[in-house]
Amino acid sequence: MSTQELIDIARTMVADDKGLLAMDESNPTCNKRFASAGIPQTVEYRRAYRELIITTPGLGESINGVILYDETIREKKKDGTPFVKAINEAGIIPGIKVDAGTNEMAGHPGEKITEGLDGLRDRLREYGQMGARFAKWRAVIAVGDDIPSRGCVEANGHALARYAALCQEAGIVPVVEPEVLMDGEHTLDRCREVTEDVLRTVFSQLHTQRVLLEGMILKPNMVLPGLACPKQPGVDEVADATVQCLLRAVPAAVPGIAFLSGGQSGELASARLNAMNVRFKSRLPWALAFSFARAIQQPALEIWRGEQGNVFAAQKALYHRASCNRAARRGEYDAAMESGLEGIQ
Ligand code: 13P
Repeated sequence: MSTQELIDIARTMVADDKGLLAMDESNPTCNKRFASAGIPQTVEYRRAYRELIITTPGLGESINGVILYDETIREKKKDGTPFVKAINEAGIIPGIKVDAGTNEMAGHPGEKITEGLDGLRDRLREYGQMGARFAKWRAVIAVGDDIPSRGCVEANGHALARYAALCQEAGIVPVVEPEVLMDGEHTLDRCREVTEDVLRTVFSQLHTQRVLLEGMILKPNMVLPGLACPKQPGVDEVADATVQCLLRAVPAAVPGIAFLSGGQSGELASARLNAMNVRFKSRLPWALAFSFARAIQQPALEIWRGEQGNVFAAQKALYHRASCNRAARRGEYDAAMESGLEGIQ
């Protein structure tokens, strides 16, 4: 795999005003979401749900890439077609989550470190052979009175950079995801300050580990106050704070920034992404895209509830949220789009 091929994949991932769909929930996370929707937590229900997602008619109109999980990348549709084949046939690039989840960080109460570097070179080789063209690694940064600590930010930044270097060695585009969490009472300003510091650290580590910026995608949080903060800003204020922070910390060589949704509602995530593109798109060096899980999937999951008879209605809702986010990339999203689920027939 040449450097140019890595760059081409990274650019394709954020091309044509489309984005990424994260469907890489680990089994415990997927089971938790199934439990709250009253869906049985079995391997077959997880498979059926993922088949529902990837067979949504027209999904490729808004989605360039899907992020799979280890269990999912090995699965097949009911008719025996491997998921990876079905995804490619839908004109979508398959990707894979490769971190092994988070664990308590020694000596740092309340903070987490992402694990999974051991054996990663071999796992990337296997995923590459299975057809994955990009990978994802998520670090989480909690905000509180005395956190995040330098130790947590640096250790997670270092792990992200080591992961990204291994991906590029394997010809796989790294999606670098440092997530500053929304839990807590912190203000918008505090989130901006923490996010800027985290991103500066991550890019310093990426440089140290010789990661090619043109061959990666950044997946950050939007700059948002904590969910328990009494002052919740408007959409434009979020857009301004987020773009200001990114302009300070993200090098222009990065082709795309694909936000995580982090627990925002689908409508708010679309409205905020839209505001960023309306206000700034023409002057930004990178594409501002999306790589949402909950903000695209949640309505579909709630409609499906594990029942075959609900598959089409769930796919319609999934298609709708994906289309809203494509519109948001163009700065053409309007809350009025939410009143009708126009789309697939
Ligand atoms: P959310 O959009 O639900 O935050 O998920 C994105 C993701 O991939 C988390 O790692």
